[in-house]
Amino acid sequence: MNICAHPALDRALASELKNGPIPFARFMELALYHPEGGYYCQPAPRVGRSGDFKTSPHQSPWFGRMVARQAMATWKAMGSPDSLSVVEFGPGEGWLAHDILESVESSGPKALAAAFEYTLIEQSAPAQERIRERLAHWIEGGAKCPAARLESNPPDEIEGLILAHEFLDALPTHILTQTESGLAERYVELRGKNLAFTEGPPSDKQLEGWFGGLGAELEIGQTAEVCLLAKEWMETISRRLRRGGVLIFDYGFSSRVLYHPSRREGTFRGYRAHTMTADPLSRPGETDLTAHVDFSSMLRSAEAGGLSLAGFTDQSHYLLDMGIAEALQAETGNEMAGAGERRSAMGLLDPAGLGSAIKVMMLTRGLEGAALPGFSMKPDDRESLATLRS
Ligand SMILES: C[S@@+](CC[C@H](N)C(=O)[O-])C[C@H]1O[C@@H](n2cnc3c(N)ncnc32)[C@H](O)[C@@H]1O
Repeated sequence: MNICAHPALDRALASELKNGPIPFARFMELALYHPEGGYYCQPAPRVGRSGDFKTSPHQSPWFGRMVARQAMATWKAMGSPDSLSVVEFGPGEGWLAHDILESVESSGPKALAAAFEYTLIEQSAPAQERIRERLAHWIEGGAKCPAARLESNPPDEIEGLILAHEFLDALPTHILTQTESGLAERYVELRGKNLAFTEGPPSDKQLEGWFGGLGAELEIGQTAEVCLLAKEWMETISRRLRRGGVLIFDYGFSSRVLYHPSRREGTFRGYRAHTMTADPLSRPGETDLTAHVDFSSMLRSAEAGGLSLAGFTDQSHYLLDMGIAEALQAETGNEMAGAGERRSAMGLLDPAGLGSAIKVMMLTRGLEGAALPGFSMKPDDRESLATLRS
């Protein structure tokens, strides 16, 4: 009997499920990251026009150009050191790295290009291959241009800028529901020939007091996600960042907004071919699974690790403050030839899409008082900023 189309993933799921239900987080880990059958480990690209979803670096190169400005501002705030480490987690197809490296090489100061060392941490072997091809110029480029390399683990000590673009929302997450008798966790079990959700006690001690610890209270029947791996990631990078910044772009909210009773079903979703699926457990390995990021928890872990909040806003306000409108005008003017480029760049600011759904958070160590751009414009949804620490 087949649970899914890929034989190796099918065997892995069957072997775990025969012993009983598994926490949803474990199911998500196998379905997305099984080295042969996982969604992100398939030969075809998952992100982009032909994939299941499109991210900002796939929307327009102007996104990476603005992030390159942030890298330059961080480098300057650090006193223009001889070496700037930029470490990107979960780069996928590597377009963000491509656009940043191209921008630093073509329009950054020479000293920045010479200092620039870009490290990509990507777990998917097929994606690594495509990154190697796409970034060959910088990976093999020698001393004259900014350097890039692929690694499986981040450096122990980082001085520079850490990037996570739509990385955290793809980490395996626990799903919890508030019941009369306490928190119940969602598990996945085999029911007949199909995968189905079932409930059980929290599988990890940290989950038990989670919402109380954040000052959030779920209503009876309300479901919400908790990503312990995101917390772990933040704790790890807080330890490793000696000086510089962490820049996170992702779908998400502050805890108070994310866990508000109006979001009764939580934010966990499954997508196939740009469409949300009603049955996220069906066709594992072919379905993208994702949940929004709790930015208050990220901030809390970062502050516990000694980092400071430099800013939190939404993508459209961030990019406007980074000067995207002026840069676009200067580069493409009003010419018809630039109309397509302007249109795709405007998609980054779409208030009904990437512009407001994607939040941007920057954290720093050793740069207190430095004027870092991107966060001086307040989003209309002031609530997400105001509620960040409550
Ligand atoms: C949602 S995709 C985003 C890709 C890219 N950042 C973008 O925005 O287009 C998430 C990426 O993170 C990678 N990833 C997830 N967990 C990882 C881990 N622990 N280490 C390295 N890469 C990881 C996945 O393989 C996938 O390429």
